[in-house]
Amino acid sequence: MSTVTFEHVGKSYGDVRVIKDFNLNIKDGDFVSFLGPSGCGKTTCLRMVAGLETNTEGRLLIGETVVNDPAAKLQLAPEKRHVGMVFQSYAVWPHMNVFENVAYPLRVAKVPKEEIQKRVAEILEVVELSGLEARMPNMLSGGQQQRVALARGLVAKPKVLLLDEPLSNLDAKLREKMRVDIRKIQQQFKITCIYVTHDQVEAFTMSDQIVILNKGDVVQAGTPSEIRNKPANDFVAEFIR
Ligand SMILES: Nc1ncnc2c1ncn2[C@@H]1O[C@H](COP(=O)(O)OP(=O)(O)OP(=O)(O)O)[C@@H](O)[C@H]1O
Ligand SMILES: [Mg+2]
Repeated sequence: MSTVTFEHVGKSYGDVRVIKDFNLNIKDGDFVSFLGPSGCGKTTCLRMVAGLETNTEGRLLIGETVVNDPAAKLQLAPEKRHVGMVFQSYAVWPHMNVFENVAYPLRVAKVPKEEIQKRVAEILEVVELSGLEARMPNMLSGGQQQRVALARGLVAKPKVLLLDEPLSNLDAKLREKMRVDIRKIQQQFKITCIYVTHDQVEAFTMSDQIVILNKGDVVQAGTPSEIRNKPANDFVAEFIR
């Protein structure tokens, strides 16, 4: 686990500034949700942490390590960040079976074969997919595919796990179960999590901290009860109503 720090982070695409002076300290092992309307910059923030996108202003740190600092022309490669990511769509690879999907980050990291066998078996047990190693994704339910993606995000034991609306394609019942499962796994592994959602129930039931974003600004950051009981302004009050 690790802290994540945004220091005056900004991001522009050409003339359009989509993240503005973003400041946030995420504590070791915390589960933090980014909540906000479509287009407010949630995915962009995650991609900057993962190293798939670089900020144009400010600094981003994972633990004590500066991972993005445009002023110093510094950008740490994604594979050196020890970050796992579960994307907005399931993004399991259709041409690989369950085992190969989950093993992929370990193969990239050149982990020895026997170790890969062991680690994949362990994590498949955690997400309750043991026995389905040889299945192709088109033979899995939506929830099972989602758990493959989760296992792949977790298998390399990341310091930080980034989840971008990982449950948005699931039905209500499965979503509820997966919320509990994800939280349990997060606490078991003591992983710092950033969880992007626009589902309020998800944010309020799962998080230690909630960050409310609007148009690239942090409008309020606090515990679920702080946000619920002391909304910082009308936007927050209206948004969580
Ligand atoms: N490659 C790009 N070029 C230009 N603008 C972009 C690019 N990627 C994202 N944007 C813009 O940046 C803003 C933030 O996008 P982002 O994907 O972070 O939003 P989001 O909060 O994740 O939204 P959603 O809830 O719909 O997924 C949007 O206005 C989007 O149009
Ligand atoms: Mg998004």
